[in-house]
Amino acid sequence: IFRASGLVSLPSILLLGPSGSGKTSLLTLFERGANASTHTSQSPIAVECSLPVGAIAGTDKYRSINDPTNLTHKKFLLLDTPGHGKLRHHALETITNPQNLKGVIFLVDAANMATGDEGLRQTADYLHDVLLLLQKRMSNGASKAPKEMAVLIAANKMDLFTALPAALVKSSLETEITKLRVSRSKGLLDSGVNMGDDGEDNDDWLGEMGSKDFKLSQMEEFNIMVEVAGGNVTGNANVEKWWKWVGDRL
Ligand code: GTP
Ligand code: MG
Repeated sequence: IFRASGLVSLPSILLLGPSGSGKTSLLTLFERGANASTHTSQSPIAVECSLPVGAIAGTDKYRSINDPTNLTHKKFLLLDTPGHGKLRHHALETITNPQNLKGVIFLVDAANMATGDEGLRQTADYLHDVLLLLQKRMSNGASKAPKEMAVLIAANKMDLFTALPAALVKSSLETEITKLRVSRSKGLLDSGVNMGDDGEDNDDWLGEMGSKDFKLSQMEEFNIMVEVAGGNVTGNANVEKWWKWVGDRL
């Protein structure tokens, strides 16, 4: 799908996350520098974006301030995906078949993540699947697999007073994934999927084997670097940390 855009050689950043978390709103802001209203997405789209002057890309860090190349806009491709459960295969296909993929931004609605909330459960469920797919890709030594993959959990909608701060978004997701991990592995045992191989087949366990609590830092063992940072897209937009993260990947 993205191949048709003719922009394949640019470094790309993939936007994932549940429906309504603000992916298309963020794409619009990154592309045009302004907000516009969105509708729920039904298919993936790719747009070319430029890093704003002032947000210095990672590879430029050691150049002198006076170096004229600092003034050129770093270009990248931003890939938006539909968050609806039935359309997520589009998003997941992009992870397994990346074209110069430099990072994944997993957008979450921080105002919809209270403990026991269905929103939290669904968000954790999707994040678990994304991280597990990346983990499998990184650990099976696929020749196309990158050496390292960066994931930014962007805690969006911080302008709303009901939004959880980024640190709480992080710990809530970790707690929820801890529960999910256990129930998924029980489900596999019950269905007999893992029978007959002495429990050696632990491909579907996310993070550190034998750990009681899931921590996002457990992904580092698979060269998946996960960060969490807050911001908001609409209103008085605050996306500086996210721009910086993107810049560091280009
Ligand atoms: P799907 O396409 O269904 O996967 O959703 P999406 O992630 O693309 O969400 P979208 O960008 O369409 O945004 C959903 C709603 O959230 C819209 O009404 C946005 O205006 C709103 N929204 C996005 N970002 C923010 C934010 O930072 N703060 C607030 N208050 N609302 C936001
Ligand atoms: Mg959308």
